[in-house]
Amino acid sequence: MTSFFQSLVENTPSYIFYTASVILSLALISISHCFYFRLITKLYNLPPGTMGYFPLIGETLTFLKLKEKFTFQRHSKYGRVYKTHIFGSPTVRVCGSDNIRTLMMGDTKILQVFWPPSTQSLVGSHSLAVSSGECHRQHKSLILKTMTPSKLKSHLDHFQTTASEKIESWINSGIIDPVQQCRDMTVRSVIKYFIRNDLSESVIEKLINEITTFEKNLMSIPLNIPGTGFYKSMKARAEICSIIQSVLCQNNKDTKCQAQSKDFLNSLHSMLQENRDGNVEKKIEDSILEIIFAGNLTTTVASFSTLYLLANHPKVLQKLREELNEFGLMSPDGIHYPIVTQDHIPKLNYLQCVFKEILRRLPPVGGVYRKVLKPFQLEGYTIPANWRVVCSIRDQHIGDCTFDNPMTFNPDRWLETADDHSAFDFIPFGAASRRCVGKDFARLSILYTILELARRAQWKMQPSTVKIDFIPAPKPMEEMTATFERYKHE
Ligand code: HEM
Repeated sequence: MTSFFQSLVENTPSYIFYTASVILSLALISISHCFYFRLITKLYNLPPGTMGYFPLIGETLTFLKLKEKFTFQRHSKYGRVYKTHIFGSPTVRVCGSDNIRTLMMGDTKILQVFWPPSTQSLVGSHSLAVSSGECHRQHKSLILKTMTPSKLKSHLDHFQTTASEKIESWINSGIIDPVQQCRDMTVRSVIKYFIRNDLSESVIEKLINEITTFEKNLMSIPLNIPGTGFYKSMKARAEICSIIQSVLCQNNKDTKCQAQSKDFLNSLHSMLQENRDGNVEKKIEDSILEIIFAGNLTTTVASFSTLYLLANHPKVLQKLREELNEFGLMSPDGIHYPIVTQDHIPKLNYLQCVFKEILRRLPPVGGVYRKVLKPFQLEGYTIPANWRVVCSIRDQHIGDCTFDNPMTFNPDRWLETADDHSAFDFIPFGAASRRCVGKDFARLSILYTILELARRAQWKMQPSTVKIDFIPAPKPMEEMTATFERYKHE
């Protein structure tokens, strides 16, 4: 018998063995997958929905093919809580203010923030996204102290200059690539605000290149071996950190800069030192990398959405200009632009409505992910441990559970219904303990972009409307250009 198997092994080509072992492994995974789902369906009252036919893959391919249609179809078929199987995990997608409130305010011993291992390694162990519990709470309060609304207000010139200089360059060029230009505006703003505002153009260029490589593989297979995308991103991370260290060193020598305690990097450095926190340098590096990771793509998307939505809604642009004119902020000659002071911003009511509506209609973050640590109940269903839960910001904003005519871009809805909405209806920046720390920075960046666009430019997008790909964040599915000319308010 032994010799029969021996001769079988020796005489069978190796590729047959490989194929057979792959088939056997897949069969075993499929059987255990079926067994697990049968058992869990008997044990628990699971939410409605389907898990796909293939183990591990589940409905991932359908999700990637149908994109936002996937979530809309299932949302209207199954309701506000449904199960699926995407990106290797059984997942429950949730919308509805009360459900979102329950999840966001929920016990951190039941739900834990979840990021893929590649993101965790790239942003670093001291980042907010990766930390939890007391460590998260303490570090968050420190970061928030460096970005209080009053500190940001004292830097309004940063936001106004960033937006006005960039828009002037678009008017001078006449034609631009809107996605690339919005990214350039955001990344430069983040570098200047969070690292140092007087870096040379060559250092800024180097940082932009490294940031581009760093961002490419945030969600990849975390194999740190030469040749892989993850390895390249880890190398880019090291380059960014070495620039941060040399800026810190320069700041220490430069007494003028030391006195500038408003500076983010300096404030963070001195606060960490005052707290006698260990690992100050590593904490600073992780904080800056996290800001780049969390702030760049989101704010770029919001700036692009501003260009796209306002170009397609001339009546909204006109109403915005009328409001700016009421406050004496328009320019009849296109040369002299009145200064926008910090008193103007809260009084510009329609501007605030346009800002909110942009983030409602095209939310830069489609949903927030949590890992389930212990089974819990939602709408009478049980969500088992080790599953993922997604609080879907997109379904909440443009599904049919919260807003009337949700697909229509209508800033006036915020004039009419400002007080009718619960805090969990409109959640572009998340909520509760995980609420976005860059919310006020992003708000000022976007408000100034809307304002400076409205008073300086007249522009058209080509093609004027496109299909938007929502995954991972809204972006046009075709290449677009934007043609710019100066606007004069007569
Ligand atoms: C329009 C722009 C932005 C949007 C829509 C946005 C959205 C969000 C959302 C939804 C979350 C919650 C994630 C969760 O619950 O898991 C979040 C967290 C976060 N955001 Fe933003 N964000 C924006 C801009 C920024 C900027 C400019 C920065 C940095 C300056 C930033 C830094 C962060 C950080 C560090 C977190 C993690 C907070 C924590 O885990 O406690 N974001 N953001």
